[in-house]
Amino acid sequence: MTSVIDLSVNLPILEAQHGVVRCALAAAFADENSVRRTALGGALEVDTTTRSILSEGLARSGWRPAPEMLVLAPGAKHALAAALEATVPRGGILGVEVLSYPTVRVIAAELGIRCRPLAMDDGGIRPDAVLEAHVQEPLAAVYLQPTLHNPLGMTMSAARRRQVAEAVSRCGILAIEDTVFEFLCPDAPPPLAAFAPKSTVLIDSLSKRLSPGLNLGFAVAPDEDLGRRIHEVLDARRWEPAGLAVTSARTLMATGVLTQIVQGKRSDAALRNAQARRSLAGREVEGHAGAYHLWLSVPAWPSAAAFAAAAAAEGVLVAPADGFHFAATAPPKAVRIALGGIPLEVLESALGLVADLAGRPPGGGRKPSVPRPARPVPGRGRPHNLGPDT
Ligand SMILES: Cc1ncc(COP(=O)(O)O)c(C=O)c1O
Repeated sequence: MTSVIDLSVNLPILEAQHGVVRCALAAAFADENSVRRTALGGALEVDTTTRSILSEGLARSGWRPAPEMLVLAPGAKHALAAALEATVPRGGILGVEVLSYPTVRVIAAELGIRCRPLAMDDGGIRPDAVLEAHVQEPLAAVYLQPTLHNPLGMTMSAARRRQVAEAVSRCGILAIEDTVFEFLCPDAPPPLAAFAPKSTVLIDSLSKRLSPGLNLGFAVAPDEDLGRRIHEVLDARRWEPAGLAVTSARTLMATGVLTQIVQGKRSDAALRNAQARRSLAGREVEGHAGAYHLWLSVPAWPSAAAFAAAAAAEGVLVAPADGFHFAATAPPKAVRIALGGIPLEVLESALGLVADLAGRPPGGGRKPSVPRPARPVPGRGRPHNLGPDT
């Protein structure tokens, strides 16, 4: 089997995190009773101490969730699906940034929700696009990522957040704010939930900040009634988080281990991002310097998909704009490149190939030698299909 270098999926896991997680969890599960408590599984309800620890762990500059408003889920996807089911009726319209997280389309389709793409500019989603869309056909809610947007990596200014908050409240609709990458951007303005506290459901999880294997998702509702409705959807679908995930999150937050891992990831992401920008010098790269992903334009290519296919043929997987694009028009000629979770030297050689290919229209020029990793990268190497969860 040919090994591939997979830069299409964002899986930032640090080698150094496993040791600290092991020590913290070994202490948490030192006696049999603590293991017994997690054995029955599901835990939509948690005790008040756990609730306070989790709320404190999710607090960020300018925003702190009220412990009683926290709804737990297995992951952000579940929290998001439950929030959509609780707020957007079948046949209703969800505004979505024109480039956005692909799984939203999958969830919306399952719930019979129509996605309406909303224009963005250099500052993020355009408030006038929200207002205009709502006049044309009323929106029920808007899904957006104000900080470290996936795939663009952009972060909205405080002024833009205020304008979007105003637009949302003028329309009388809800904002569903996804903050799974926000931990990488400590200097970001407060979340939209701080600007529009009565009309924002904030979604977060530990899959990027810790690991998908120890994931725990969160929805923070603006009021008790909506929190209860989101909880009811999760309950009806039997989407409760594993007891192990709750104990793990509680332990890693209470002991400061999660903060330590987050700090390590911020440095790692900045290092990889700087390296990627060096490797891609002269190419059109967008995104935040602290992100684990970059947005690369490939204007010399006929399409993003053609570029991604050519890169795949050379052994490197990248995610073409097609999957992220919510409009019916042709997607931009751009690809998202994920930077985390693979050895630095492997990343460097893959980026060298991507940089070379980006400047070379199809069919033209010499074929570069393909740098291969010495061994397949664990957990990677599957053939590229733009799976829903990138
Ligand atoms: C923007 C965004 N939100 C949510 C998720 C999913 O999070 P979780 O793994 O916690 O379901 C992802 C995963 O890639 C994502 O990119």
